[in-house]
Amino acid sequence: MNVLLIGSGGREHALAWKLSRSPLLGQLFIWPGNPGTASLGENIPLPVDDHRAVSDLIHQKGIGMVICGPEAPLADGLMDFLADRHPDLALIGPGRSGARLESSKEFAKEFMLRHGIPTARYRSFGSREAEEAISFARSLGLPAVIKADGLAAGKGVVIAQTREETETEIRAMLEGRFGQASERLVIEEFLSGIEFSVFVLTNGDQYILLPEAKDYKRIGEGDTGPNTGGMGSVSPVPFADAALMDKVRDRIIEPTLRGLKQDGIPYRGFIFFGLIRVQGDPFVIEYNCRMGDPETESVMIRLESDLLQHCLDCHQNELNPGSVRVSSSHAATICLVSGGYPGDFEKGKKIEALPQTQPEEHIFFSGVSSKDGQLVTSGGRVFAVSCLGQDQLAALDQANRLADLIQFEGKYFRRDIGFDLK
Ligand SMILES: Nc1ncnc2c1ncn2[C@@H]1O[C@H](COP(=O)(O)OP(=O)(O)O)[C@@H](O)[C@H]1O
Ligand SMILES: [Mg+2]
Repeated sequence: MNVLLIGSGGREHALAWKLSRSPLLGQLFIWPGNPGTASLGENIPLPVDDHRAVSDLIHQKGIGMVICGPEAPLADGLMDFLADRHPDLALIGPGRSGARLESSKEFAKEFMLRHGIPTARYRSFGSREAEEAISFARSLGLPAVIKADGLAAGKGVVIAQTREETETEIRAMLEGRFGQASERLVIEEFLSGIEFSVFVLTNGDQYILLPEAKDYKRIGEGDTGPNTGGMGSVSPVPFADAALMDKVRDRIIEPTLRGLKQDGIPYRGFIFFGLIRVQGDPFVIEYNCRMGDPETESVMIRLESDLLQHCLDCHQNELNPGSVRVSSSHAATICLVSGGYPGDFEKGKKIEALPQTQPEEHIFFSGVSSKDGQLVTSGGRVFAVSCLGQDQLAALDQANRLADLIQFEGKYFRRDIGFDLK
């Protein structure tokens, strides 16, 4: 089967790598892809928001399946557009209505409330309700959790530590700091606990559980400094034991799938449950309608069964939890970022020849492009280095070693990914 994978980051490089190992794969196309995915398939260098061009390509190349990496095309209704034009096409990724789980935090909170799914207490507010929002935030106490309703590229959540900051942030957001995305706000109770991420592939009825992961968002070691898109991840998560995962299935995954069905929302694709464990119980922080980056890198290198087969099973309503095979090894992913990130940073830095890798070592490309045959940096996150080891420490050591061998001016990475779990 010919497959079109949408996206251009480390997540897509890892998905492309995993798909390329499937005996079921014919040709792989990546739209737009990056120089890493170019070695695994054919990159299509066109803007992804051109839905008609995607549809034309599907005809031209005899594509049987589309897998969408990022959230934006899903929220834009790409899958609805393709489903109308190509009735037999296998689509891995929800339509616009399912993508609302991620594209509107207010929608997601209402959904959880309606279906009894554990999450922080909240209220939502519109642009004329700054005073009400501030007084509700006060009633919850500090720190205050203030979230822009819409997609804000991971920057739409502020955890305010003081009353002044709470007030300033609420006003700034409602006055349009994130444009349309912050015309409405969700203000919620602060939950104190440890976060982890759970991933399923579902057709709306059946689902399979993929390996869980934990990501590290702060730029600085010891989880300090500003938030980034993600600085690394590990899988498995030692505290996600059978007892906790049973609660996750019973209280969160299965009620979510039942809720989607009750609400008449078709869903075929990945669901990423951003969870927090509070005194032994899981709560939902957020839903994402796709896999995470840099979690996917750790998840894919641990997944032993065939991802393309799972995606086909999803399309054919034959998802079988028993078919998922996961390595007992530990995965660690470390992101190498441009100096200055997540603030301003320079692009176009020359990347020296990459080191040779062993089978259990991977260098996934995130913000890398090719200029006159030379690899150069083109994003904040440049590489995701992912390694498998017998235990977490071994995986981390190996990833650190590989990260040291990659050279570009201004390179920065955290050496303490997974530090809190040892
Ligand atoms: N209710 C909450 N209590 C404590 N921390 C929270 C809460 N909601 C969000 N956070 C923190 O903020 C981060 C970002 O929030 P999230 O809802 O995942 O938004 P996004 O990923 O879209 O930026 C979370 O990973 C978590 O660390
Ligand atoms: Mg999040």
